Amino acid sequence: MIKSEKIYLDYNATTPVHEQVLDEMLPYFTQNFANPHSDHAFGWDASEALEQARKQVADLINANTSEITFTSGATEAANLALLGFAKENRNKGQHIISCKTEHKAILETLNALEKDGYEISYVEVNCDGIVDLEQFQSLLRPDTSMVVMMLANNETGVIQDITKISELAHQNASVVMSDITQAVGKIDVDIKAMGIDLAIFSSHKIYGPKGAGALYSSSKIDLERYMYGGNQENGMRPGTVNVPAMVGFGFAAEIAKNELQKTSEELLLLRTNFERQLQALEDVQITAKDQDRLPNTISFSVHNVDGDALYRRMNRIVISRGSACTSNIIDASHVLTAMGFEEKLALATYRVSLGRTTTQQNLNLAFENIQTAINSIRKTSLV
Ligand SMILES: Cc1ncc(COP(=O)(O)O)c(C=O)c1O
Repeated sequence: MIKSEKIYLDYNATTPVHEQVLDEMLPYFTQNFANPHSDHAFGWDASEALEQARKQVADLINANTSEITFTSGATEAANLALLGFAKENRNKGQHIISCKTEHKAILETLNALEKDGYEISYVEVNCDGIVDLEQFQSLLRPDTSMVVMMLANNETGVIQDITKISELAHQNASVVMSDITQAVGKIDVDIKAMGIDLAIFSSHKIYGPKGAGALYSSSKIDLERYMYGGNQENGMRPGTVNVPAMVGFGFAAEIAKNELQKTSEELLLLRTNFERQLQALEDVQITAKDQDRLPNTISFSVHNVDGDALYRRMNRIVISRGSACTSNIIDASHVLTAMGFEEKLALATYRVSLGRTTTQQNLNLAFENIQTAINSIRKTSLV
């Protein structure tokens, strides 16, 4: 049992399982435990639960159930989408356009494709992390089979104009793949209206369990399987499906959809107040302050301090520097570096991400801790 007085403000890294989600999952461990692929009454019940979950997940992004493949998370879905697309469509062109601010789940998979003969062009972002649309257009070529752009960034919360990017990509007959992991449950994501052909997302970012995620693959897109085994998930993801996890993912998706508007309005209010407080501090800057950003995400930098020392002094709050997946390595974040941050400033940039149970009182205490830490570190460095 973890017992901590610290205030958790790292909801972009992961979220706790919603109590109602856990209640919904529990019977599937002990009572309705059957293999959903078994051809008997118990199996049919499990299969029904799985298909109900698929419908809940599909509804969250306005997809059809036949377009959802369950996976172990967004990383696995990214591998299925990118490697599966490349394997199936090699003859349609071996050029892909992406962006340096993508998550490692995408960047590392693209690296693997590069080693396999694909050419990857990375479009520049400006100092706010916004994709340069003119440069993007100039990179499109007849052999550009795919464009890979995330909807919202995990470190800065910056939202790209994916509808515009899709429009330009489709004019070039390129398929659009988007990492929507951080966007779902925080902003309205309508996959069809946004023109996205392939998308990946994850349960543990929306108060569902870890080890569950989904690949959205438009019915117009063909992917080649690259994992072999049974015919589960239409052969795309063989192996017995984790029914309790997917039931939890489905229920979390339904709650996220129902509570989206209320949650995002409340979070935006908290974010606005908190950013106002931070901005009043000397030499503190909010990343991409004037851009369209996730309502729960605040990235702030503190000038002229040792970023590591300051991080250790902000010891009453749980926040992240750089991306959570690499947070045990103190390297300047690749996202901030791509946005032109110098290394020292990148190392003194922190992400505060709010969740459904974050209160104004939590944020007042967090602000007090940040303010005290900055003041004390500045005093120490004057001595
Ligand atoms: C934007 C983004 N994409 C992908 C992932 C990977 O998700 P998962 O942990 O489900 O593999 C994350 C998780 O941090 C993320 O923030």
